[in-house]
Amino acid sequence: MQTLSTPVKAAITDLTAQQHEPFYLYDLEQLSKHLKSINDQSVVKLWYAVKANPLSSVIQTLDQAGFDFDVASSGELKQVLSQGIDAKRVLNTGPAKSQHQIEEFFSFGVTTFVAESINQVTWLQEAAQRHDTQLRILLRVQLRWPNNEKNPLGGDSLTPFGLGAEEWTTISLGDYPNLDFAGLHIFQWGNMLDASKLASLWQQMIAPLVSLSERLEMNLRILDLGGGLGIPYSSEDLPIDWQAILTSLAQFKADARIEELWMELGRYAVGECGYYVNPVIEQKQNYGANQLILAGGINHLLRPAVTGQPFPAKLLRESQTTAVPFTLHGPLCTALDNLGEHLLPADIHEDDWLVFSQCGAYGFTESMPYFLCHALPAEFIYQAGEVRCVRSSLTPQEYLR
Ligand SMILES: Cc1ncc(COP(=O)(O)O)c(C=O)c1O
Repeated sequence: MQTLSTPVKAAITDLTAQQHEPFYLYDLEQLSKHLKSINDQSVVKLWYAVKANPLSSVIQTLDQAGFDFDVASSGELKQVLSQGIDAKRVLNTGPAKSQHQIEEFFSFGVTTFVAESINQVTWLQEAAQRHDTQLRILLRVQLRWPNNEKNPLGGDSLTPFGLGAEEWTTISLGDYPNLDFAGLHIFQWGNMLDASKLASLWQQMIAPLVSLSERLEMNLRILDLGGGLGIPYSSEDLPIDWQAILTSLAQFKADARIEELWMELGRYAVGECGYYVNPVIEQKQNYGANQLILAGGINHLLRPAVTGQPFPAKLLRESQTTAVPFTLHGPLCTALDNLGEHLLPADIHEDDWLVFSQCGAYGFTESMPYFLCHALPAEFIYQAGEVRCVRSSLTPQEYLR
């Protein structure tokens, strides 16, 4: 798990002297180092799943590390293009591609799409014909496994992500002359930390995917395995073994006899670079339990309410006082606004700040910021020893209409 480095901790401490509201800080130096280390290989082409964190300077850091970009909406596309990134470096995934959205992507010059339904294939062909252009298409496949495992990406349950192999075999690729069906896409498990389990899932995918490509008479050149690589959210979790991942991907590539393997990473790419820094409002005892009431909660950091998995939290200041269990509550009038159980020094008080780590992915933009009209958190970056505010906090008076 990422530990707060001394200079980043000092930068956060300085910011807390000026701020009154919760804020995010992203350590772009740490991010840049991590990205370069995982992109320094020739086994798998890496895209960045922009949904994990669409902040401009995060996208720019991914660009500098040689990643291309997976976008799932017009908003994400425009955010990527406005960083000066060429539309040819964009991949469009996502189950809800309307004809209007497809037309918009065309107008910006995007040519690589993951098709998730037969309608999408038809609409992509029609648009490509109208624009007299050729597109690169991957078909998204949803497989079923016997062990019935579920998680937010669906695992083994029915989801809107792609189609089953039987459904795909009802189309004839020759009916879509403007589409180059370059391969298949499959992604059903999120936040995996066990490289051997992933390797086993990937190995089980080869036979059904190769068989589908044969039935479709597709020359299978590319396989996209999505994201799904996890980061530890608890001190008991170990980080995923990246070298073991590369070894199993190389084996997968050889066994499936494909030219290119792709992944679009979100959490594993950016999750460890982010901190959410949150003022303590008060400590209280209630029915024998220690409660901390915080200025920010799931309005800024929703994920614990969705997954039941808290982000790691520490007291910013040093304290020698014995750690005791606390339940952390945000400011919303719902019991869902709970940031988990944490062992923290018993002397925490109303002038303190907590620092939540592993918040670089699925943080602010995954949250519910308008509920109860609190301020929206500012976003700061730490780079070359300096702190810069990329997006200021917004007060309710600024965002309410
Ligand atoms: C199609 C697709 N690819 C990649 C990702 C990123 O996944 P992760 O953050 O697990 O790397 C997602 C996340 O939902 C996704 O939907």
